[in-house]
Amino acid sequence: MRRCVCDSWNRNRGGVIKVLGIDVGTGGTRALVMDDEGRIVSSATEEHAPFASPKIGWAEQRPEDWWRACGVAVSKALAKANLRGEDIACVGFSGQMHGAVLLDERDEVVRPALIWCDVRTQKQCDDLTAKVGAERLIQLTCNPALANFTVTKFLWVRENEPELWRRVRSVMLPKDYVRFRLTGERATDMADASGTLLLDVAHRRWSKEMLQAAEMDERWLPGLFESPDVCGQVSAAGAAATGLKAGTPVVAGAGDQAAGATGMGIVAAGGVSATIGTSGVVFAATDRPALDPKGRLHTFCHAIPGRWHVMGVTQAAGLSLRWFRDQFGTESKDGGDPYDALVDAAATVAPGCDGLLWTPYLMGERTPHLDGNARAALVGLSASHTRAHVVRAILEGVAFSLRDTFSIFEEMKVPVKKIRLGGGGARSKLWRQIQADIYGQEIEIVEAEEGAAYGAAILAGVGAKVWPSVDAACERTVRVKERVAARGDVVLVMNHSYAAYRRVYPATKAIFAG
Ligand code: XUL
Repeated sequence: MRRCVCDSWNRNRGGVIKVLGIDVGTGGTRALVMDDEGRIVSSATEEHAPFASPKIGWAEQRPEDWWRACGVAVSKALAKANLRGEDIACVGFSGQMHGAVLLDERDEVVRPALIWCDVRTQKQCDDLTAKVGAERLIQLTCNPALANFTVTKFLWVRENEPELWRRVRSVMLPKDYVRFRLTGERATDMADASGTLLLDVAHRRWSKEMLQAAEMDERWLPGLFESPDVCGQVSAAGAAATGLKAGTPVVAGAGDQAAGATGMGIVAAGGVSATIGTSGVVFAATDRPALDPKGRLHTFCHAIPGRWHVMGVTQAAGLSLRWFRDQFGTESKDGGDPYDALVDAAATVAPGCDGLLWTPYLMGERTPHLDGNARAALVGLSASHTRAHVVRAILEGVAFSLRDTFSIFEEMKVPVKKIRLGGGGARSKLWRQIQADIYGQEIEIVEAEEGAAYGAAILAGVGAKVWPSVDAACERTVRVKERVAARGDVVLVMNHSYAAYRRVYPATKAIFAG
């Protein structure tokens, strides 16, 4: 381990080096202090106000609330472990991607941010695609125009709220606004910038042609950095709000998917993670920008200089189970977790659910259908099916949806050498086994289940020169705690069910179109 910059710091403090990761999520902001062996010293979360959805498909949050939550979470994390600001060698950020933060000439927030799951911008996507050309758009940015992506949100505000747009003097992504309040610097990283549709992802620079097409001034954008690079220091105002020490270096960090994958050690080609949270993401690290000509996957920069990733997104993964629990679940009698009661019952049902299938399109779908009008379906019910069958069908259906991304990886020849599970799908024993059987491959579970905040802390450690590279950091910190093998006989049953699952969307599509 190389300890250049921090050697004297380490001696002076008489202890191990500690770094801080801050993840500005959707539900809340998490602060996590890690030591130089990757052990979690302390962590704390402060919830955000839920996002406002004044119309169907709209989702807005107040950036000032993220900054408030950051101050609370960091102060709590420091206090919990009796740490002082000077105990933290470096800070790294991660955050919800794609959100549009608009600031005026006094750096005041112009309107609430349109966040990642806001999909009001189909018209702006269509107009931009017509203006640039569908093929050229993919050449320039490696991705098609999707309503989740940031630039379409800017265009919506310009068209629909011109008086607010006239006040805009700079724009940024959610975590970068929080960093701006902490340091005074306008900075972003390649991974998060990839989700704006303004980055030339292949060459890791803003795309002048896209800026021109969107009629955006490059001076409005933050500076671009690689994820482990230091891009600022905590300011006096930032220190007062968080308890950190003024002057503490801050690295660029990464969007939550790239940071989460880093936290699971998915950093080199062949490494793949499958994370089931509210949404579900299958993420493959690549050593080149691998393109899906049909645009079903996102091709973004990774948090490692000179590397990229492709990922497929299931909109309603964990959300499918939460929806069922909220609408049809019963209170658990002994006061235990109602999820456990549902999943315990599902474990008694045989793989394949006696023919019952769930397609999880409660919120439309990104991968593989790119269809906002898609709707969920429970197909194959018979009188002998029970509530437990339905729960198991949901767990299997979500894993089938993630397998769709693996199928596209196969088409694109993206290598899959190891699969690591994250999120709620990794915490449930039954869902872990279902995933191994449906992906048809051994899966691994890592010790630290902290996801993006852990990855952000790793990037901070590289920025502080605790480790010489992200690869070295992951080797040192990420440990596999469990492996689950796919069961040959069950894999065959699941292959059969998957073939049936694949026929449901084409058969139901026309019912919901438009
Ligand atoms: C990635 C995506 C989500 C958000 C919110 O494309 O939309 O992961 O970053 O977590």
